Amino acid sequence: MPKVSEAIRRHHQALFHTLTTQIAHLAAGRPEADPAALVTFLHTELLPHAVGEEHHLYPAIEPLLKAHGEATATMRVDHTFLEEYIRQIDHTVQKLSTAAGEERATLHHQLQRLTWQLEALLRVHLEKEERIYLPLLEQYLSAAEQQRVLEGMHAAYTASAPAEEGTKTTLDVRPLPPPQRHPLIFQTLDSLQPGESFILINDHDPKPLYYQLHHEREGQFTWEYLEQGPVVWRVRIGRTPEQKEETSCP
Ligand SMILES: [Fe+2]
Ligand SMILES: [Fe+2]
Repeated sequence: MPKVSEAIRRHHQALFHTLTTQIAHLAAGRPEADPAALVTFLHTELLPHAVGEEHHLYPAIEPLLKAHGEATATMRVDHTFLEEYIRQIDHTVQKLSTAAGEERATLHHQLQRLTWQLEALLRVHLEKEERIYLPLLEQYLSAAEQQRVLEGMHAAYTASAPAEEGTKTTLDVRPLPPPQRHPLIFQTLDSLQPGESFILINDHDPKPLYYQLHHEREGQFTWEYLEQGPVVWRVRIGRTPEQKEETSCP
């Protein structure tokens, strides 16, 4: 039975429970709120726990992580918490839009707490990336490799951006095997209403696609480069408004 890890988990739960209870008492101005007790807890429980981990747990984990673990796994855990906070904030803001009176005040308070928690998480998360990851990137990757990382992040960002007016969707064909790309792009174009468009994301200049479209859908599509490499190409491809009925004409 994993008694040691169980003991550590239980201790974590106890630490977190004490902290959140004390915070709740203080926030509510309850008589049992005791700022001095909070300070004592922080110094005699929380800090020694962190020091103990640095001296004993982390040195034991370090080689295990190299051999069996994934060094960035802890950062991904941060991201899942980040997503969860965003989900809860969305939900609270949505409820706030129709709430009134006491419910509104409660929701405001909830929103404030969530945003502060998100802020604290984000502050530590960004600091970890900047102190630990970026120096490694600068020291061990070539300028071109660093640029590729940046371009990839940029593409992920633009791919998740809200669609512009009339832009139906984003089609990222990079993960697809090349033979599947053109048929899917044609299918997407054909599914558009006249005047609508989608954004194609590709890992090379889709010039051959342009010629194929020009040949097979002449006058029926629009083509606008939004980004032209060197790693990512983004093209807004649209369906020409006035061509809608022509396909049914003999
Ligand atoms: Fe811990
Ligand atoms: Fe991050």
